[in-house]
Amino acid sequence: MGGELAEVDGQKRAAAAAAAALVEDGMTVGLGTGSTAAYVIAALIRRVAEESLRIEAVPTSIRSAEQASAGGISLTDLGHQPRLDLTIDGADQVVPGSLDLIKGLGGALLREKIVAAASARLVIVVDGRKLSDRLTLPVPVEVVEFGWQATARKIAELGGQPVLRGGEAAPFRTDGGNLILDCTFGTIADPPGLDRMLKLLVGVVETGLFIDRAERVLAAEPGGVRTLLPSARTREDQGAR
Ligand code: A5P
Repeated sequence: MGGELAEVDGQKRAAAAAAAALVEDGMTVGLGTGSTAAYVIAALIRRVAEESLRIEAVPTSIRSAEQASAGGISLTDLGHQPRLDLTIDGADQVVPGSLDLIKGLGGALLREKIVAAASARLVIVVDGRKLSDRLTLPVPVEVVEFGWQATARKIAELGGQPVLRGGEAAPFRTDGGNLILDCTFGTIADPPGLDRMLKLLVGVVETGLFIDRAERVLAAEPGGVRTLLPSARTREDQGAR
């Protein structure tokens, strides 16, 4: 690993440990997906082993489930624990202030949003390079396979440029068996409005826009871990809403 990458990795581990420290004995915890979430799970595994921390966890992907259970974390599901105390997850892009997020580059956005919605608190851990004044990354949109081309056309009518993840010959499949369209919208002026418009399209299962969900973001930076809290959304922020 190059010097800069190793440094960012170290920062991510520190932020992951800070997030894992928020977990208290007896909590039910949602486990995110991605390389940062994997550091959080590793930190929780250490706390379970070293401090006899007792938690029950709901993972957001098969990957995270395998890592957690191999490390001795007890797993449960939303059938047994419909309300979680805390979910810790990563993100692909974060707007400081609104704490609007783009998630889903790892393909787990649907389970991530279901678990986040079931949680009293959602804490996001990122490295500082993911902070951005506006959301600009392609939005991952999970769609059902049947008629996905028609769904893609509807997304294009909204101004997006959808690209099937993995390509038609070997499309990427989510843990739920669906497809993902990575949809470029340029700079997203009105994330809540875009999320609503996408969700109205038949064939769309879920979007990677996470609006008004994060309680806080822990940003790993060279000087240490910075905590970002949401500021009230102003009328201007709400765009056409
Ligand atoms: C998974 O579907 C995503 O939402 C992840 O949270 C995101 O891709 C972050 O991954 P990294 O921590 O590996 O950047």
